[in-house]
Amino acid sequence: MMTPMDQGNVITPGDLILVYLDVKRQYLVEAAEKLNLSSDLGNMDLGEVIGRPFGYVGETHLGKKYYCLKPSTADLMFKVKRRTTIVYPKDVGYVLVETAIGPGSRVIDVGTGSGALAMVLAKFVAPDGMVFSYERREEFIENAKCNIERAGCLQNVKFHCRDVAIEGFTEQAIDAVFLDVAEPWAVVLKAADALKGGHYLVSWSPNVEQVKRTVEVLRENQFIRVRVSEILEREILVRQQGVRPKERGITHTAYLVRAQKIVPQSGK
Ligand SMILES: C[S@@+](CC[C@H](N)C(=O)[O-])C[C@H]1O[C@@H](n2cnc3c(N)ncnc32)[C@H](O)[C@@H]1O
Repeated sequence: MMTPMDQGNVITPGDLILVYLDVKRQYLVEAAEKLNLSSDLGNMDLGEVIGRPFGYVGETHLGKKYYCLKPSTADLMFKVKRRTTIVYPKDVGYVLVETAIGPGSRVIDVGTGSGALAMVLAKFVAPDGMVFSYERREEFIENAKCNIERAGCLQNVKFHCRDVAIEGFTEQAIDAVFLDVAEPWAVVLKAADALKGGHYLVSWSPNVEQVKRTVEVLRENQFIRVRVSEILEREILVRQQGVRPKERGITHTAYLVRAQKIVPQSGK
């Protein structure tokens, strides 16, 4: 039944819906008048959800309930078509508040990869900010564009195809630079050229050797307040008997390096 609260919360063609049956069966689909979805628990005629509010409960032809939920930003990230590894929500959430960016910011993202980070940044700097996303492999940019367009934020991303360790960045006076590349130390000086003074460089690296080399280069070149963290997430099983952490899940993702650019005055 529709309530006044559902005004503006109605599923319309083009909306992304998370169709949830259970933990193992969650599908991200784009709403359309004619749309069928099949699962081993039955077929769903998703045309019938148009005009219903998010939160709608339907039934498969085998009588199993499905739920039409609003996808989170983390859902959008996990459902991108992957051509590379992607950043994880636990890490992105943390670094967003560890910088000074928000709506209207101009940020750099390297490399674009599958576009998961660029997509989150685009949502964060919208409506009038911009993500300048750099990637040396053209075919990855094409895939990332599709992923970001699906999430509805392509208007806040501009792509450049180049090796930034060699060619650097086009933009200047940038509010934050995010690096997710194998050799971040090779990009630090180029990032310093693009960044505003006092603002942030963030770098993801899975291995300690990469972190050490990056931190050394940051300390030697115009960066201060260099910090490194690892974010650990443990999901908890809540059930009738034996409430405790899950044994399996995401363990190590990346070390997060953060640093701020300084602008020494001449003669000091
Ligand atoms: C791990 S992926 C990035 C994933 C991305 N952050 C995401 O969330 O989807 C690393 C990407 O960086 C690109 N890359 C590595 N070094 C680069 C460089 N010097 N210039 C431009 N792109 C680079 C690689 O081609 C690869 O696509």
